[in-house]
Amino acid sequence: MDSYINVPVAPPAKDARRTESIKLYGPDAFEGMRRAGALTAACLDGVADLIRHGTPLSDINTYVLDFAASYDAIPATLGYKGYKYACCTSVNHVVCHGFPNEKKLRESDIVNVDVTLIHEGWYGDSSRMYAVGKPKRAAERLIQITHKAMMRGIEAVRPGARLGDIGHAIQSYAQSERCSVVRDFCGHGIGQVFHDSPNILNFGRAGEGLELREGMIFTVEPMINLGRGEVKMLADDWTAVTRDKSLSAQFEHSIGVTARGFEIFTRSSQGLHAHGVEINGETT
Ligand code: MF3
Ligand code: CO
Ligand code: CO
Repeated sequence: MDSYINVPVAPPAKDARRTESIKLYGPDAFEGMRRAGALTAACLDGVADLIRHGTPLSDINTYVLDFAASYDAIPATLGYKGYKYACCTSVNHVVCHGFPNEKKLRESDIVNVDVTLIHEGWYGDSSRMYAVGKPKRAAERLIQITHKAMMRGIEAVRPGARLGDIGHAIQSYAQSERCSVVRDFCGHGIGQVFHDSPNILNFGRAGEGLELREGMIFTVEPMINLGRGEVKMLADDWTAVTRDKSLSAQFEHSIGVTARGFEIFTRSSQGLHAHGVEINGETT
C-alpha cells in the first residue's frame, strides 16, 4: 500500500535552508510551529470533554471545525486529497484515517483523534488516544505502550542521530512488549506544508538513514497493534483497519530538532496525554 506521505517536496519557506532536499528551519519557523502546535494541542485537550458513551464521532468533527474557526485556523485535512472531514477518528481496530461520521462511541471504546491545524501558515499535526469510560486492561496497556513508543522515538532525536535511530527505538520497544508496528504508514516532514520529506519510519536499524540536523521539523506518529502489524483498507479507500481485527493505537507529535535534542510543538499545556488512561503515573 502507498504511504500518504509520498508527496513532492514543496519549495522552501523563506526562513528555511535545505540539505539533501530536507529543509532546515530557523527561529521564526520554530515560533510559528510553537503557535500552531499549541493550538492543535488545545483543540485535542477540548476533545476530551466529548468522550463518553453515545457521542457521535461527527460531534468531534463539529468541535474541531468550530475550534479552528474561532482561533483563526484551518483544519488541514478538509479537502486534503478528497478527504471531507476536519479530523480523523479511529476507533478500536481502526488503525488510522477513520471518518468522524454518525457512528457513536460506546463504553470501553478506545479512539485516536488526529487533528492538524494550519495557523498563520504553519501546520500543527498531533493525535492522542482517548478511552470511553474504563478501558479493558489490554486496551489500556496498548495505549501505554504506544505512548511510550512515541516518546522513545522522540527521545532518540538530536543533531547527529539518524532516522534509523528513531525507528529502531520505536520498533524495539513495541516488540519487546509483544506488540506490532504498522509499516504501511509513517511520520513526515511538516512546516508550511502538510506532508513533506523525509519519511519518518516507525521501524529501522540504529545508525542507519538520514542524519538529523538542527532545524529539521517533522512528526513522530507510530501506530502499534496488539496483534499482527498488517492492515487492510476499507472500500471507502481511507479507513485502515488491522487485518486480524486486533486493537490499534497511535500517538503523534510535531517536533523540531534543536542544538541539544528536540522540542515538542504539540504538547498539552494542561499536561494531558491520553484521556482515561494512566501515562507516567498520571490519569487525565
Ligand atoms: N493527520 C494525518 C497525519 O498524521 C493525516 C491525515 S490525512 C487525512 O499525517 F486526509 F486522512 F485526513
Ligand atoms: Co502526521
Ligand atoms: Co496527524
